[in-house]
Amino acid sequence: MLNYAARPLMVEVQPKVLYYGTPVVILSTLNPDGSTNIAPISSSWALGNRLVIGVGLGSQSADNLMVHPECVLNVPDVRLFRAVEALAPLTGADPVPEGKQAMGFRHEAQKFAASGLTPVPSSVVRSQRIAECPLQIEALVRHLRISGDSPAFAVVEVEAVRIHAHAAVVHDPQHINPVTWRPLIYSFRHYFTLGEELGRTFRAEV
Ligand SMILES: Cc1cc2nc3c(=O)[nH]c(=O)nc-3n(C[C@H](O)[C@H](O)[C@H](O)COP(=O)(O)O)c2cc1C
Repeated sequence: MLNYAARPLMVEVQPKVLYYGTPVVILSTLNPDGSTNIAPISSSWALGNRLVIGVGLGSQSADNLMVHPECVLNVPDVRLFRAVEALAPLTGADPVPEGKQAMGFRHEAQKFAASGLTPVPSSVVRSQRIAECPLQIEALVRHLRISGDSPAFAVVEVEAVRIHAHAAVVHDPQHINPVTWRPLIYSFRHYFTLGEELGRTFRAEV
C-alpha cells in the first residue's frame, strides 16, 4: 500500500523534454500544390469548440497554416501507433531544414502512402481527413502567434467547424463514448495507451 502522507524525496532536474503525456494528433494541412500534408503533433488542448496547437517553425505544417488558415486534427487511436511512427521521421518541407537533417528527418511528399493511411475529402476545409482516425476535426485558424526562442514555434488557435467520428466511439450524436475511445498517448517520447477507468467527474453526462 502506498503511503501518500510520506514526504517524497524530491530532486531538481533539467529534463530535455517536458512532454508529460498528451494525445497524438495527426495534423492535415494544405500544401501549395493543393495536396495534403500530414504530420504528428502532441501539443494540443481543447476548450469548448476551440483548440490550441503548437507547431514548430520550419515545418511544412507551420508554413501551410500561415498560407491556408485551416486544417484537420485527425486523432488516432492506439491501433494507429505504427502509422504515427512511420510519419515521425518525415517532413513535407523540401529542402529539409538543416537542424532536421542532422536529426535524420527526410523529405516525403507522399505521406499517406508512406504511412499506409487513407485520405478522404473533408466537408468544410480543403485538406483531406485520415479515414483510419476515429476522430477527425475540421478546423479554421482563428489566431496564430509566433512564440518561443530557439527553435521558435507557432501557437495556433483553431475553431472546430465539423467533427466526424467512427460509429464505434460515438455514444450518441452529442457525446463521444469515453469507454470505447482509446487515445494514443505520447509521454516523454514514448507511446502509451490509457489504463483502466478510475471514475467520472460530477459533470459527466454519459
Ligand atoms: C508523436 C509525435 C508528436 C509530435 N509533436 C509535435 C508537436 O506538438 N509540434 C510540432 O511542431 N512537432 C511535433 N512533432 C514533430 C513533427 O511531427 C515533425 O517536426 C514533422 O517533421 C513535421 O512534419 P512537416 O514538416 O511535414 O510539417 C511530433 C512528432 C511525433 C512523432
